[in-house]
Amino acid sequence: MSAITSVILAAGQGKRMNSSLPKVLHPVAGKPMIFYSLDIAISLGIEKRIVVLGHQIERIKDTVNSIDREAICVHQREQLGTAQALQEVEPYLSDFSGIVLVLSADVPLLKQSTLHKIINHQNSSSACCTLFTTKLDNPEGYGRIIRNKSGEVEAIVEQSDLSEEENQINEINGGIYCFNSKELFTALALVKRDNEQKEYYLTDVIKIMRDKGCLVEGIILKDPAEIMGINTQEELSRVNQIMYKRNALEHMEKGVTIISPENTFLEKNVQIGKGTIIYPFTIITAGSEIGSNCHIGPYSHILGSHIGNQTKILSSMVEQSQIGNKTSIGPYAHIRPESIIGDDVKIGNYVEVKKTYIDTGTRVSHLTYLGDATLGKKVNIGAGTITCNYDGIRKNPTTIEDGVFIGSNNSLVAPVTIGKNSYTAAGSTITNNVPPRSLGIARARQENIVGWVDKKNKKEQNTKREK
Ligand code: UD1
Ligand code: CA
Repeated sequence: MSAITSVILAAGQGKRMNSSLPKVLHPVAGKPMIFYSLDIAISLGIEKRIVVLGHQIERIKDTVNSIDREAICVHQREQLGTAQALQEVEPYLSDFSGIVLVLSADVPLLKQSTLHKIINHQNSSSACCTLFTTKLDNPEGYGRIIRNKSGEVEAIVEQSDLSEEENQINEINGGIYCFNSKELFTALALVKRDNEQKEYYLTDVIKIMRDKGCLVEGIILKDPAEIMGINTQEELSRVNQIMYKRNALEHMEKGVTIISPENTFLEKNVQIGKGTIIYPFTIITAGSEIGSNCHIGPYSHILGSHIGNQTKILSSMVEQSQIGNKTSIGPYAHIRPESIIGDDVKIGNYVEVKKTYIDTGTRVSHLTYLGDATLGKKVNIGAGTITCNYDGIRKNPTTIEDGVFIGSNNSLVAPVTIGKNSYTAAGSTITNNVPPRSLGIARARQENIVGWVDKKNKKEQNTKREK
């Protein structure tokens, strides 16, 4: 097996995206597009991994290094084409004679098993280059594969340089190549920019190699999706759809029920237990772990959170928090970061919870805000209750001990503690601690003025008569 160096091309601006965000940083299933080619090079066990950067280099370099600290970033100062991009790499490979695997940062759907094919092929043949091609109903925008009568790859012609006859060809270049290192750099030196776009095309090395008598092999991929390139926002949305569906299928194979994979958005690095049902329009981000036999969605958004078993999360958002077993959240609840919610808890309609600990069996059923609070076991929070946790300077804690019953529409002015098994009366503004087993009542006493309406009506009638 020859040694392999990978080179990821990522210096282009991505003009056709019409965006200020560099193309390769646009997210695909929640990860920057460039993540996928970096990740695949690492998982292939390639030791020397090079990335060519140019447009917005500093910004992209940070992302590259956060994914692959060992990647060598090479600067292509002027983006004069894919051939010139590879030439920038030559000084790093002067004593290298193995295979150069060229990947494009804008082709994220490529699978590791598919790459194995091209590497094995290049390894076992005498070809100067092996590349992936596919046949498309609409090959518009891609370089076309020119084969001779015996079916050998002869050249690649870019879209803007196609003759009318070549425009009929539907076999396209996937932009993924294995090169013999020495032959690659010899050919690159001969590439000219005498084409429509005045760029140095990497694809020109194919004809140069063939003219020299070198063999170029084209492997036709049956599934064109894998080498779909992203140049426009429309293509980005199509690739996103495919990636999300692919992620959903992986979970379905492991026993998760996903009602509509086309409308379910699971990022990579998400774990879901068997028997869990994911309803449509649910987004689950990287790092989330969901137990078994849960019902998640429709319309739930779970960001980096841990959810136990048999828990329901209906039309709600859970951010960087932990939810226990047999707990029910929503509809329309928002669990904000650093919350820990235990087992058999109910968080109901329009409830916001922030940095709060809620113990087993507690119910917070309607229209409530809990911030910086600690709730014990079997607490009941009445509708419309809020913790007044912020005094304009600092956040203060609220403690509600086991078995407490908070009446409806309470304002709990923190810092405050409601002792074990106590009650607070509906409509109270609680500013002082309530001792255990007591009733806290803090509201004006009601007064009824009997006959007030009759008096009012009489007065009005008299005024009218006077007019
Ligand atoms: C390229 C191929 C085309 C192929 C298609 C597959 C060339 C000339 N054409 O076209 O045959 O069908 O990919 O997706 O190679 N880049 C640099 N430096 C540059 C220019 C580009 O690093 O100076 C990078 C880009 O960031 C991108 C990749 O190379 O990641 C491909 O460039 P792009 O402009 O997208 O090429 P295509 O027109 O898609
Ligand atoms: Ca492209």
